[in-house]
Amino acid sequence: MSQRSALVDTYAQFPLEVVTGRGSRLRTRDGHAYWDFYGGHAVALLGHCHPAVTRAVSEQAAALTFYSNVVPLEIRSRAAQRLCAFAGAGLDHVFFCNSGAEANENALKLAIARTGRTRIASLDGGWHGRTLLALSATTEEKLRKPFSGVLCDAVRLRPNDLDDLHRLDDRAAAVIVEPIQSIAGIVSLTGEYLAALRRRCDDVGAYLIFDEVQTGMGRLGRPFAAGDVHFGAPPDRNPPRKRRDESVCIQQPDLEADGVEGRHMAGPLPRLDKTGGTTVPPEPHRPASREGPTLPLTRAPLPGICPDMATSAKGIANGIPMGALLMNARVAEALRPGDLGSTFGGGPVACAAMLAVIETTERESLLEHAARLGAAMRDKLSGGPVLEFRGRGCLVGLRTKPPAASVQKALMQRGFVTGTSADPHVLRLMPPINTPLDAVDELAEALTTLGGTVDAALA
Ligand SMILES: Cc1ncc(COP(=O)(O)O)c(C=O)c1O
Repeated sequence: MSQRSALVDTYAQFPLEVVTGRGSRLRTRDGHAYWDFYGGHAVALLGHCHPAVTRAVSEQAAALTFYSNVVPLEIRSRAAQRLCAFAGAGLDHVFFCNSGAEANENALKLAIARTGRTRIASLDGGWHGRTLLALSATTEEKLRKPFSGVLCDAVRLRPNDLDDLHRLDDRAAAVIVEPIQSIAGIVSLTGEYLAALRRRCDDVGAYLIFDEVQTGMGRLGRPFAAGDVHFGAPPDRNPPRKRRDESVCIQQPDLEADGVEGRHMAGPLPRLDKTGGTTVPPEPHRPASREGPTLPLTRAPLPGICPDMATSAKGIANGIPMGALLMNARVAEALRPGDLGSTFGGGPVACAAMLAVIETTERESLLEHAARLGAAMRDKLSGGPVLEFRGRGCLVGLRTKPPAASVQKALMQRGFVTGTSADPHVLRLMPPINTPLDAVDELAEALTTLGGTVDAALA
């Protein structure tokens, strides 16, 4: 039996047999080299086989490949601290897991358990993973259909439609959004919309979850979209408000010292039993009071919109499987041993890889480089079949006149690996954030030589 036939046939495949990768370059068995503007689906954040990541993984694997969460590990605590400091945005605590879907599943479970509500909300076009709650929040109908009987009650809002927000009401435990919807075809949420969403969540007592599986870890030229001024509403339209009502990041004071309840979820988190069922019924949910005591602000408000939780995966450990559910202190404070769990989550090799990713990003000023690459792509990728540029940093969509799949094919023949999206006319680019600027020039030239229709260019 060939290796291919032993694998279940669930993935459409690129016609490439990749054998090695270095930085943003891939080499195939037949000796061809490609610029990787797909990044193994946005996973190769620092490129392939970055020496700092390879070294960190090798050293950690030699010292202790794995031990579970029943023991404290210095590297795990250090990774948690480093990630939270990198993310900022009041996301001071983290639960480690293994994938984007698992991070989203846990975020949604937590919201449901805390509120006692069973409805979740998401946006049209959103893609959050294939586990059941994550799938409940995902739009793609062909994935959802076989499971329609077991998916949870989900309401889907129209992205960037302020008038549609009234459909988010106090039956919703949480709303989960990608600040830039990637698979949908690189659809950016506006700061104004996110600010209004933050306010609406506060008003109805629902958690706001940012799915930053693609937008996080520096891909946008900022650590995360959470707390990023780019995603904050214009100051005149969204003045910072105080406490309980804030739509900008406010450094949370020590709630225990203040003796004040959390912002959204009055009452304790119901205990989860081993099967995920609750053993203590949740207290009836009380929407956040607008009259609550005003807490002292310990630091100046941060710009941007701060979710209650944000999830990360894909590039977080540059190819070593890892997911992370970041949360603010108010969400974390009621968690108790046993409420969340994952055997491999926070394994030392993944933590070592993640630490190397953050340290390298900072040491090599890769946030700045990602922003420069984004600007170069915006300036230069306009020729040939391209009608419109979308996105930011290294999460880019090119709207194309011919179908994106034909542009992708023609580019592959010219040595560029790119991605498509749910929009048949949007080509996606998710290159490593340390890709040399020259690669953008080469891609621009290749696009220009394809011409407007691509047909003639296809071999
Ligand atoms: C925005 C987003 N969220 C969640 C996921 C699911 O991540 P994973 O495949 O690691 O479960 C994906 C995967 O593409 C994604 O793009």
